Amino acid sequence: MKIAVLGTGMVGQALAGALSSLGHDVTVGTRDPESTAGKTEPDRMGNAPYPVWAADHPAVTLATFAESARDAELVVNASGGAVSLDVLRQAGADNLAGKVLLDVSLPLDVSAGFPPSLFVSNTDSLGEQVQREFPAARVVKSLNTLNATLMVNPGLLGEGSTVFVSGNDADAKSTVTSLLEALGHTDVIDLGDITTARGTEMMFAGWIRLMGVLGTSKFNWKVVR
Ligand SMILES: NC(=O)c1ccc[n+]([C@@H]2O[C@H](COP(=O)([O-])OP(=O)(O)OC[C@H]3O[C@@H](n4cnc5c(N)ncnc54)[C@H](OP(=O)(O)O)[C@@H]3O)[C@@H](O)[C@H]2O)c1
Repeated sequence: MKIAVLGTGMVGQALAGALSSLGHDVTVGTRDPESTAGKTEPDRMGNAPYPVWAADHPAVTLATFAESARDAELVVNASGGAVSLDVLRQAGADNLAGKVLLDVSLPLDVSAGFPPSLFVSNTDSLGEQVQREFPAARVVKSLNTLNATLMVNPGLLGEGSTVFVSGNDADAKSTVTSLLEALGHTDVIDLGDITTARGTEMMFAGWIRLMGVLGTSKFNWKVVR
C-alpha cells in the first residue's frame, strides 16, 4: 500500500520505518523537504536529526505534506497536536478525501509546563476536530496511548497489551486494525465512533503520571476481561 506519514519526529520515523519494513511504499511528509533533508542538529529532545534516520531507511522517501498525501492510499497524521489541523490543511482536503487517515496525535498543551494538559477534552477531541474539518477523510484515532517504540514493537512488553481504534467508518477501522496486527498488536479494541477518541486522548493524563512513577515510557495499557 502507498502510505504517507505526515511527521518527521520520533513517531513519524517509527511508523514510517516499520510500515516500510512490512513492504509498504512509504513517503514521509514534511513542510520543506530540502530543509528537513539538510538538518544536522539534534531536535529539542536530543533525537538525532532526520537525515541520520533516513540514511538507515533508504526505501522511505521524503516529500511535502501535500505531495506525500496526494500519492497515498492511506495517510498517517504523526504531527504535533497543536499543529495537526494546519499540517492536514497543508496536506490538502482533496488529497485526504476518501482515504483512511490514521491519527496518532495528542492535543498537548505545553504552555503551562510539565506535565502537559490537553487543549481539547471531555466534550470534544482532536480526532473529532480532524474529522469535522476533513469530513471526506475516514479518520481512525489509534496508537495515541503508547510510546513510539511500542507502537511498532509491542512484543517488547510480551503478549497481550491493548490498543484502541475510534472512528466512524467500519472499513477504515478494519484497515487500521489489520495494520496494527501486522505491527504485532494482538489486542485491538474497537471503541466505537470518533467521539470515543475523547477517552483515549484523555488517557494521556494517566499515562504521563505513570511514566513519572515508573521512570520509563516503555509500558502500555492492558485491558483484562
Ligand atoms: N512521542 C510519543 O511516543 C507519542 C506517543 C503517542 C502520541 N504521540 C503524538 O504523535 C505526534 C507526533 O509526535 P512526535 O514527537 O513524533 O512529533 P512532533 O515533534 O510532535 O511533530 C513533528 C512534526 O510536526 C511538524 N510541525 C512542527 N511545527 C509545525 C508547524 N508550526 N507547522 C506545521 N508543522 C509543524 C514538523 O514538521 P517538519 O517536518 O516540517 O519539521 C514535524 O513533521 C504528536 O501529536 C504526539 O503527541 C507521540
